[in-house]
Amino acid sequence: MRLDPAPVDLTGKTCLVTGANGGIGASTAAHFAALGARVMTTDLSDRFDGECDSDHRGIDLLDNQGLQECCDWIAAETPDVVFNNAAIFDMGSVLDAGLDQFDKLFGLNVRAMYAVMQAAARALVSAGRSGSIINLASQAGHRGEALVAHYCATKAAVISYTQSAALALAPHGIRVNAISPGVVDTPMWDSVDALFARFEGKEIGQKKREVGEAVPLGYMGRPFEIARAAVFLATDQSQYVTAQTISVDGGSVLRF
Ligand SMILES: NC(=O)c1ccc[n+]([C@@H]2O[C@H](COP(=O)([O-])OP(=O)(O)OC[C@H]3O[C@@H](n4cnc5c(N)ncnc54)[C@H](O)[C@@H]3O)[C@@H](O)[C@H]2O)c1
Repeated sequence: MRLDPAPVDLTGKTCLVTGANGGIGASTAAHFAALGARVMTTDLSDRFDGECDSDHRGIDLLDNQGLQECCDWIAAETPDVVFNNAAIFDMGSVLDAGLDQFDKLFGLNVRAMYAVMQAAARALVSAGRSGSIINLASQAGHRGEALVAHYCATKAAVISYTQSAALALAPHGIRVNAISPGVVDTPMWDSVDALFARFEGKEIGQKKREVGEAVPLGYMGRPFEIARAAVFLATDQSQYVTAQTISVDGGSVLRF
C-alpha cells in the first residue's frame, strides 16, 4: 500500500483570520502561527488579544470603508488561507426580529463574509496561486429555529456561498469549505446565553448548561477543537476536499 501523508505545516503560507479576538478566531490564529504561518488578523479593536504574533488591523467589517480597507489589504497581501470567521448573533422570531437586525446580521455574517471571500479569490486568481478559504457556518445554518430567524438564515447563506464559490474556484486550484460548529464555549455563547435568559425566562448560565449536556459527546466544544478542523482545511491534509461544510459539533447535527 502506498502511504502518502501530507505534512501538517503552514511554513511559507500567509493566513488571514477575521474576528480574531473572538474565541474561535484567536485559537485558530494561534494554531496557524504554531504551524509556521505568517498570520494576518482583523477585529474591531486595534489590539490583537491572541497569543501569537500577527500583523493586525482594527477594522469594522460592517462599515463600508472598513470593509474596503480589508479587501484592499487582502489584494495587497494575497493570503493563501482565509479563515472567514467574524460574525454576530442575535435573537428574534419572525414576529419580532426586524429589518435593523436583518441588516446588521446579514451585513456582517453574509455581506462582509462574501466580500472577504471574493477579495481573497480575486487576489489568488490574479497571482495564479492555489489557496484555501474557510467560512464559518453553524449548526444554525442547517435548520431554522423559532427564535433565531435571521442568524440561522445568515449561516444557511454561508453554506450556499461556500458551495458556489468552491465550484467557481475549483478550476483555479482554490478550495472553499465551511466549518459548522455546534455549541462552542466562547464570548459569543455568553451573549447567546443572556439572550436565551431574556427570551425564554431562563437563569443566566442555564441555557449554556443545557446545550452542553444535550451534545452527544456530552460537552460544549472548545475553540481549539474548531481550530483543529481549520488546520485540516488549511493544509494539504484536505487537498481533495472542497465545497464541503464540515460539522464540528460533538454529534449535535443529529440531535438539534
Ligand atoms: N460559539 C459558538 O457556539 C458558535 C457556533 C456556531 C458557529 N459559530 C461561528 O463561529 C464564528 C466565531 O464565533 P465565536 O464564538 O468565536 O464568536 P466571538 O463572538 O467570540 O468572536 C467573533 C469576533 O467577531 C468580531 N466582530 C464582531 N463584529 C465585528 C465587526 N463589525 N467587524 C469586525 N469584527 C467583528 C468580534 O469582536 C469577535 O472578536 C462565528 O462566525 C460564529 O457565527 C460559533
